[in-house]
Amino acid sequence: MHGSARRAFAALLTAGVIAAATAAQAPGGPQSTGSAAPQASRYSAPTNLKVLPKDSTGQQVHEIMELWSAALGTHCDSCHAEDSNNPGPNGRPQLDFAADSKGMKAAARMMYTMTEKINVDYVAKIDSSGAPITCGTCHRGHLGPEPFAIPPNVGLSAPRVLTPTHEGQLPQ
Ligand code: HEC
Ligand code: HEC
Repeated sequence: MHGSARRAFAALLTAGVIAAATAAQAPGGPQSTGSAAPQASRYSAPTNLKVLPKDSTGQQVHEIMELWSAALGTHCDSCHAEDSNNPGPNGRPQLDFAADSKGMKAAARMMYTMTEKINVDYVAKIDSSGAPITCGTCHRGHLGPEPFAIPPNVGLSAPRVLTPTHEGQLPQ
C-alpha cells in the first residue's frame, strides 16, 4: 500500500477522537460563550508519547484515554502510577501520567501498535473494508478478553471454547 494511504488508514484509529475534540473547540460552541479568545485546554501537552502521534494535544490524548479505559472496563490507575511526592487537593497522591513504571502501560503501548498494524496491514486490504478494529473489538469492556464459546445450537454436542489449536496454530 502507498505510504500516505497507510498513514490515512492508521489515522482512522484516532480520527473520531480528533473530530470530537475539534467539535468541542468550534467557534460558536458552548465553550466559546462569553469569551472572545480561544480557551486554553485544561489538559497539559503530553511529554512522553512513544506510540500515539507526537503532535497530539492534551485534549486528544485525554479523549483516547477515556476510550481505552471504557473499552477495557478499567480506570486510569491501572496503567498510570501514583506520584507519592505530589498530593492532590484531597491529600491522596496524584497520578504521574508521563511515568513508565507500570507494566500495564507498556502492554497498552504494545497493544496499540498491534491494533494499528492489524488495521493497516490486514483489515484495510479487505475489499470494501469499513470499520477498523479497536481495543473494544477484543476487550469488550474487560481487561482480559473472554474466550469465545460456540453456542450449543450450531451442531456441536456441547458449547466449545476455541483454543489457538482450533484456530489453525500448530500444537506445541
Ligand atoms: C490501558 C492502559 C491505560 C489506561 C487505562 C489509561 N492510560 Fe493514559 N496512557 C497509556 C499509555 C500507554 C500512554 C502513553 C502513550 C504513548 O506512549 O504514546 C498514556 C499516556 C497518557 C498521558 C500522556 C502522558 C505524557 O505526558 O506523555 C496522559 C495525560 C494520560 N495517559 C492520561 C490518562 C487518563 C486521564 C486516564 C484515565 C481516564 C488514562 N490515561 C488511562 C495507557 C493508559
Ligand atoms: C486482536 C485482539 C485485541 C485487540 C484489538 C486489543 N487487545 Fe489488548 N489484549 C488482547 C489479549 C488476547 C490480551 C491478553 C489477555 C490475557 O492475558 O488474559 C490482551 C491484553 C491487554 C492488556 C494487559 C492486560 C493484563 O491484565 O495484563 C492491556 C493493558 C491491553 N490488552 C490493552 C489494549 C489496548 C489499550 C488496546 C487498543 C489500543 C488493545 N488492548 C487491543 C487482545 C487484544
